Amino acid sequence: MATNSRVGANAAKQAAAARAVHYVEDGMRIGLGSGTTASIFVRELAKAVDRNDWNVSCVSTSSNTARIADDLGLKLVSLNEVGQLDIVVDGADEIAPEFNLLKGGGGALLQEKIVAAASEKMVVVADRTKLVESLGSFPLPVEITRFGWMSTKNRLETALGRSDVGGTNCRIRGGETSPFLTDEGNYILDLSLGWIGDPYKLDAEIQSIPGVIETGLFLDLATTLVIGLANGDVRELRRRSFEHRKQPSASAEERVKTGGEHV
Ligand code: 5RP
Repeated sequence: MATNSRVGANAAKQAAAARAVHYVEDGMRIGLGSGTTASIFVRELAKAVDRNDWNVSCVSTSSNTARIADDLGLKLVSLNEVGQLDIVVDGADEIAPEFNLLKGGGGALLQEKIVAAASEKMVVVADRTKLVESLGSFPLPVEITRFGWMSTKNRLETALGRSDVGGTNCRIRGGETSPFLTDEGNYILDLSLGWIGDPYKLDAEIQSIPGVIETGLFLDLATTLVIGLANGDVRELRRRSFEHRKQPSASAEERVKTGGEHV
C-alpha cells in the first residue's frame, strides 16, 4: 500500500515536472527551484536543452540544485548577472486555493523567495497531495540569524501567542546541539501552527521580529500550478489576478477535479 502510494507520488511528480518544460523557451533566464520535484524538472530541462539546442541561463535556488544542474551541463549564472528572470519552476509543501504557498521543507526558502520575486512567472510543480484548503498543517519554516537565535525564538513564540494561528511551538531544525545550516549559513525554526488564520498578517508579524530573515510563506508569487496525478495525468491552473483575495474561490482540489481555470 505504502509502496503503491510512493510509486503514485513519483509518477505524479515526474508528470508535473516534465509538463513544466513546456513553459520554457529558447533564450530564457530560468530560476531552478529546490526539492525532489524541482530536481526532476532540472533533469527534464537538461534533456530539452540538449534536444532543441537551446541557449538558456539558469539561476539555482540551492547548492543541491546547482550541483545537479552543473552535472547535467546546464549553464549556471548568478542572479546578479541577469538581474531579472523570465520564469522560475519550483515545488511547494502546501498550496492554498488562492495560489499562496508554504515552502522551505528542504531549507532553501531564502534563495527560493529571492528568485521567485525576481521572476516574471512562477510555475509550481507538485503532486496533488500538496493541495490544501488553508496553509499551516505543514510546519512553517522561518530562517533566522544564528546570533541570538534563542531570543528570536522567544519573541517569535510570544508573537504567535497573540496571532490567529492554531499553535505556538517553534523547533530549531536539526536540534540545539547541531542545528541545520542553510546555504546562507543561517538557522531555521520550524513553527507548528496547525492552521494560519491570515497568512498576510502572520507574515508581516514574523518579519517584524529582529533576527528573522525570511519566512516560508510565498504570498502572491505563484502564477501557475502544474499538478501531477498518480496516473501520470497533469492539471494546469493559472492564477487569474489578485482579485482572488477579495472573493471566495473554489478549493484548489475542486478546481483540479473540475478542470477550472485551465491554462
Ligand atoms: C525546498 C522546498 C521544496 O520545493 C518543497 O519542500 C517541496 O519539495 P518536494 O518537491 O521534494 O516535495 O520548498 O525548500
